[in-house]
Amino acid sequence: MFTSIRLSKLKKKSTSISSPVTKYTELEPALCQELQKIVDALIVRGKGLLASDESPSSLQKRFDDLGVKNTETNRRDYRQMLFSADKSQFSKYISGVILHHETVYQKTTDNVELIELLRERDVVPGIKVDKGLVPLFGSKNENTTEGLDNLQERCIQYKRDGCHFTKWRCTFTISETTPSQLAMVTNANVLARYASICQSARMVPIIEPEILSNGNHGINRALEVHEEVLSILFRTLQEHRVYLEGMILKVAMVLSGIKNSVNCNPQIIAENTITALQRTVPPAVPAIVFLSGGQSDEDAVVNLNAINAYEGRKPWPLTFCYGRALQNTVMETWSGNSEKVEDAQAVFLERARLCSQASVGELDPENGVCTKKSSR
Ligand code: G3H
Repeated sequence: MFTSIRLSKLKKKSTSISSPVTKYTELEPALCQELQKIVDALIVRGKGLLASDESPSSLQKRFDDLGVKNTETNRRDYRQMLFSADKSQFSKYISGVILHHETVYQKTTDNVELIELLRERDVVPGIKVDKGLVPLFGSKNENTTEGLDNLQERCIQYKRDGCHFTKWRCTFTISETTPSQLAMVTNANVLARYASICQSARMVPIIEPEILSNGNHGINRALEVHEEVLSILFRTLQEHRVYLEGMILKVAMVLSGIKNSVNCNPQIIAENTITALQRTVPPAVPAIVFLSGGQSDEDAVVNLNAINAYEGRKPWPLTFCYGRALQNTVMETWSGNSEKVEDAQAVFLERARLCSQASVGELDPENGVCTKKSSR
């Protein structure tokens, strides 16, 4: 099992060229195997990932809305509630959890490391390593993401401390003039550099080029942008010699903008999403996971189900890596009240169960999918 993977010192690059096949990666076979083993532990039929990596500042508004003080202890209590949900159900639906730096080093009220709760549930701990969005100078209000400085050292330390995969998010805005070529090329290079550094530190990178849906564009424009962004990204990953078999792609579904009046049905969303992926993502990539991106809880599940039920070529498992769509109602139910812990855990496990069904295209629509209206 992956938990037995131990950090061994990074070895020097191999210089032998014994294989007649041209190598595009310079990672050693043992490292490639280790990365694949981590991917195998994360990508299991019927399971997905929980993104519990919100920074203290992004939790501010959500806690404010619930009247919960945004303190380190309350953030710990919230995550403790999530990670101590029933073991067998947790591990039935969730294979990995993305953490924020703070959480990796927090302990429960009983002095158990939070990360240990995940291990007990056979869940792979991961860590968000980007340091957030910053303006991309030279563009019109577009962003890039910082955090490359000392990234290898940070990854080596996180690996020692029990994390086996990482996440880095770049965002793209759709308008008539964006995303610009500058934003697409810059962010592709940032993502590729991140991924190659993480792999050198024996961590599987989740590469997240998030195309935001806040705009008034139609779904055709969203498809066009996904194709452009992902084509440039994969070309750049090749240039940086990123080991495609040892990475996971995290994307948004192809949706019309939230200000667009045309509401696409799940089949149209599935068709456009699969088309964008078929046209751009090599089958060597072992898995694609989706973010929920401010879709309602119901839409995030129903659309994932439609994507998996869609009959078309899908050479990758397609599952969830949701933050909000798994946690919206859980956080509301908890609201900082210790007496509501069990209720909140039950809501969480139910959300995870529905996502699990959707990840194999077997959602039972009779079985109460809707728990929250759209926040898009
Ligand atoms: O980077 C995005 C988060 O990991 C997942 O976010 O599901 O709330 O959109 P979301």
